[in-house]
Amino acid sequence: MKNEGPVQLSDLYAVALEAALAARDIINSAAEQPKQIDYKGATDLVTATDRESEAVITGIIRRQFPDHQILAEESGKTQHKSDYVWLIDPLDGTTNFVHGYPSYAVSIGIAYQETLVCAVIVELPANHVYHAIRGQGAFCDNQPISVSNVSELGKSLLVTGFGYVHDAAWQANMELFKHFTDLTQGVRRLGAAAVDFAHLASGKVDGFWEFNLHPWDTAAGVLLVEEAGGNITRMDGEKYSVYDKQMLASNGCLHSDLLKNIAAIQTESSTRVFGVNPD
Ligand code: IPD
Ligand code: CA
Ligand code: CA
Repeated sequence: MKNEGPVQLSDLYAVALEAALAARDIINSAAEQPKQIDYKGATDLVTATDRESEAVITGIIRRQFPDHQILAEESGKTQHKSDYVWLIDPLDGTTNFVHGYPSYAVSIGIAYQETLVCAVIVELPANHVYHAIRGQGAFCDNQPISVSNVSELGKSLLVTGFGYVHDAAWQANMELFKHFTDLTQGVRRLGAAAVDFAHLASGKVDGFWEFNLHPWDTAAGVLLVEEAGGNITRMDGEKYSVYDKQMLASNGCLHSDLLKNIAAIQTESSTRVFGVNPD
């Protein structure tokens, strides 16, 4: 299968699934073993398992689609350009994985000419396989899933995450966390963005926002949520790209209320981070 024109979406999905399941097996067999940990930042961990998972995923992709471009968290971007870009987080939620906290994932998204077309997320250690193909819906363990229909903030459950760098966005997110905790039935903070997207897509939470995520954190999750009927924008309501540094995803019904609240609670410290791409 060479990159000689559009590849069938089912062929892309088959390879993404094979790669994600191979990565799942590596992570599951390492879960109970002592971890080999390096530090990318003071609290930003990477383990040998992150790297092994990424190597197995990229190996499978290269064997099937040697011309496709790959952007993977631990090894970066391949040099050659392609209409197809694979966006890979080989182990999302590494801190949870290291501590044995049960929320981490493998996340593989594929873009064709900058449009997300295929997504696979494996939620671990629960072993749920979520997938989406553009125009064909979203699934968990091959059963169709959809976002919730909760339409009042007061009846909603939200989720967010905090990056490793304690910058203005981190500070702003503390304010949002407080604000929405007061308005809703709760705001969860599990520590694995791919799982957060999967939980939104399957109706377990009703909204998810975060600053400073990377394309490998978001690519698969964004398509999964869109195919499950949800909505994703930047926090200023503008069109979202996985290269943006702030993201609001919801079940759709709550989106405008969430945006209104985000706009209303902007403070001096947060003004710089809502609506701008710090890069
Ligand atoms: C992290 C997780 C976490 C999010 C961080 C990410 P990693 O990914 O997705 O939920 O809050 O911003 O960096 O480092 O565990 O792959
Ligand atoms: Ca991640
Ligand atoms: Ca990761």
